[in-house]
Amino acid sequence: MDCAVITGAASGIGRACALRLATTGATVALLDVNGAEDTRREVEERGGKAAEYAVDVTDDNAIREVIGRLPAAPRVLVNAAGIIVRKKLLDCSVEEWRRVVDVNLTGYFVLLRNVIPAMADAGGGSIVQIASIAGHTGYGFSSYTAAKGGVLALTKQLAAELAEHRIRINSVSPGVVESGLNRDTLSNQAIRTATVDNIPLGRLGEPDDIARVVAFLAGPEADFVTGADLVADGGMISTIHWGNAGAELHSFHSEDR
Ligand SMILES: NC(=O)c1ccc[n+]([C@@H]2O[C@H](COP(=O)([O-])OP(=O)(O)OC[C@H]3O[C@@H](n4cnc5c(N)ncnc54)[C@H](O)[C@@H]3O)[C@@H](O)[C@H]2O)c1
Repeated sequence: MDCAVITGAASGIGRACALRLATTGATVALLDVNGAEDTRREVEERGGKAAEYAVDVTDDNAIREVIGRLPAAPRVLVNAAGIIVRKKLLDCSVEEWRRVVDVNLTGYFVLLRNVIPAMADAGGGSIVQIASIAGHTGYGFSSYTAAKGGVLALTKQLAAELAEHRIRINSVSPGVVESGLNRDTLSNQAIRTATVDNIPLGRLGEPDDIARVVAFLAGPEADFVTGADLVADGGMISTIHWGNAGAELHSFHSEDR
């Protein structure tokens, strides 16, 4: 039986990916810095199989040890563990910058370098990296945006490098999704309303909106897709530079006619 390794599995998008990938019959290996007990229990209550590991994704030795004792060969990897520091560049300390890049970019590298050999030995597989619209647009905070831009570039690079091992790698760029990462920000009603106003589909994302896209990219339906980024943001980056100005422009010209 195959195994799907998911980081950040205790919360938000990683948790939703675990619940969804468990329905494919794979054993889900749930990695999170403080373990993922609730997610494991939820997977098992729904009839799935899970193993849980309390591990920091930046700790290469600990990740190597975890990957060495997975219950089955890893055929799927979802890199989702992430943190954010909401500071402009000049307010961001070197320690804060390093921590954000360390978890959000180097942590992905640590998983990749430890999982890829086992995945290749098993005959190949599929990797999905959670990036962000921040990596495309600058809608974010500098350390986070830089790390996510790195994830997008790394994914494209690896599509070429990993094809010979029959491994596909793609990324998903979520827009604004309600999760542990932004619960505090979205509890501010003014920010919440302004955010939803900038989403053409008129709502915030749910973790499972992203998990369904991850499941598609990880699965056989996407077996000719590698090196791609799939934006799942309710249309946000297609309009973000316009915002309300876009609506005003359209109404101005319709009045002209
Ligand atoms: N929520 C959004 O709006 C949004 C948008 C774009 C991208 N993302 C990305 O989605 C991914 C998942 O975030 P989320 O929104 O579900 O947030 P979340 O806070 O709900 O989940 C992140 C998980 O990562 C874990 N984690 C943090 N540092 C870790 C470490 N060093 N080692 C192991 N685990 C660690 C946390 O414990 C947590 O369970 C992140 O990469 C995030 O950048 C989120």
